[in-house]
Amino acid sequence: MTTSNETTQKLPLTKRPAWKALENHYQNIHETSMRTLFAEDPHRGERFVADGAGVHLDYSKNRITDETVQMLVRLAVECGLRENIDAMFSGKKINITENRAVLHTALRIPRTGRLLVDGKDVVSEVHAVLDRMGTFSDKVRAGQWRGFTDKPIRNIVNIGIGGSDLGPVMAYEALKHYSQRNLTFRFVSNVDGTDFEEAARDLNPEETLFIVSSKTFTTLETMTNARTARSWTLNALHDEKAIARHFVAVSTNGAEVTKFGIDTENMFGFWDWVGGRYSMDSAIGLSTMIAIGQDNFRAMLAGFHSMDEHFRTAPFDKNLPVLMGLLTIWYNNFFGAQTTAVLPYDQYLKRFPAYLQQLTMESNGKYVTVDGKRVDYETSPIFWGEPGTNGQHSFYQMIHQGTKLIPCDFIGFCKPLNRYPHHHQLLMANMIAQAEALAFGWTAEQVKAEGSPDWLVPHRTFEGNRPSNTILCDELTPHILGALVALYEHSVFTQGTIWNIDSFDQWGVELGKVLAKRIIPELENSAASPLGHDSSTNALVTHYLRVKKE
Ligand code: F6P
Repeated sequence: MTTSNETTQKLPLTKRPAWKALENHYQNIHETSMRTLFAEDPHRGERFVADGAGVHLDYSKNRITDETVQMLVRLAVECGLRENIDAMFSGKKINITENRAVLHTALRIPRTGRLLVDGKDVVSEVHAVLDRMGTFSDKVRAGQWRGFTDKPIRNIVNIGIGGSDLGPVMAYEALKHYSQRNLTFRFVSNVDGTDFEEAARDLNPEETLFIVSSKTFTTLETMTNARTARSWTLNALHDEKAIARHFVAVSTNGAEVTKFGIDTENMFGFWDWVGGRYSMDSAIGLSTMIAIGQDNFRAMLAGFHSMDEHFRTAPFDKNLPVLMGLLTIWYNNFFGAQTTAVLPYDQYLKRFPAYLQQLTMESNGKYVTVDGKRVDYETSPIFWGEPGTNGQHSFYQMIHQGTKLIPCDFIGFCKPLNRYPHHHQLLMANMIAQAEALAFGWTAEQVKAEGSPDWLVPHRTFEGNRPSNTILCDELTPHILGALVALYEHSVFTQGTIWNIDSFDQWGVELGKVLAKRIIPELENSAASPLGHDSSTNALVTHYLRVKKE
């Protein structure tokens, strides 16, 4: 029997009852100020909050009422979010364009758990790799993994790009406080030779280990950097046998790893059901594990898992990733907001916005639905941000007084990891004040009361009503980092479900790769002609070749 929700799910998104209701509701609410909303409900700041996996979310400073939340939750139900969550967690092939399951959540199931995919228990496979990673990272940390000349490894260089770089570098920076400080970590991603050159210039090849991280092991940037690293090592050590001591691989592609010359003994595997941007908690996190040790790495996985469980089981109106995902829909699709700013008030999270850019935009920056139809609504906003307080002295002017609506996520911690509590109070005071200023502004009357001349009043007035979420955690621990990343992963999933897109493929990165392959020989061979591109591309190639020759 067909249920009424199944019938609703057959309607195009913008024709569903909840979407229509939200359109009407937007008309009624969009001029209401947060000043009014807070004045009408003195407990609003205590009511519009949710907690899960050690993360506290205050979403009261949004342009919403209880009715808005109810309607957004109804939209999630009408779009089949519950069914989709169950499908993802149980290993259904929801990445339909690549015919793959989406099981990054299986990477953090505790050892005692079990999940059968195609008849195999993936949990035991996951833990077998984690155990191998643990043994290896213990050896490196203890100085027992020796280089070819018997010197202990002191430098670890991760070579990878996209999800094989952004997760590792973000996690290393975020958890530096917990890292083993006598080891040096570097991350090489760009095919620009400067990246390798600067990363390697002060390193001794005898003490350097390269982790070549690539799901496919065919990515142009990574393989180019890996080959350069190989020559750099061999130039110093003069023996092919050195490679086994100085190179390990993280990949799903054993054949390519072998072809490159790395023994699969020194390879840490993962599975095609882990997307690149969802892989920092797989073997792609090997550099993280070496930095912080296996116990901390496992604590991070436990943090991921507790947010997974919260997402899987909490009612939608108390569910952090669902609420955050739905709020993104609210601003993106009804208020026409084009971007979301992510503003961590913690220096250790300085690469978190860059990490989130791939997670959010590579997942949901798509104009085709799972059924191959062009969407008639907006999909992913642009995610961007910088750590506080630096951003306050650069782009916050526009968030406060610009013409664009920019919803913000503030992320802060009650306890600092440094020895300067006074700094921390200033930092947190600034974060809390920014959210307050954005929401309530500063009226013309208030400016006048301060004695401003009339002509200056409009310049000094803040209209406010600018929305933000505040995510407040006790302390930046490995557990909390895992929970935070999972929070955004599942918020992205919630949005992708509403927009009915495949959040797990990335066809949009392919065309540039294909065209670059055509241009590479043209730049290498100055005699190549005639060039077969458009006139602009031809002219750029010709200009480049002329200057190179000079
Ligand atoms: O080009 C995009 C992409 O495929 C990302 O999705 C991925 O994280 C990155 O390249 C790196 O891919 P790989 O790990 O296979 O080298």
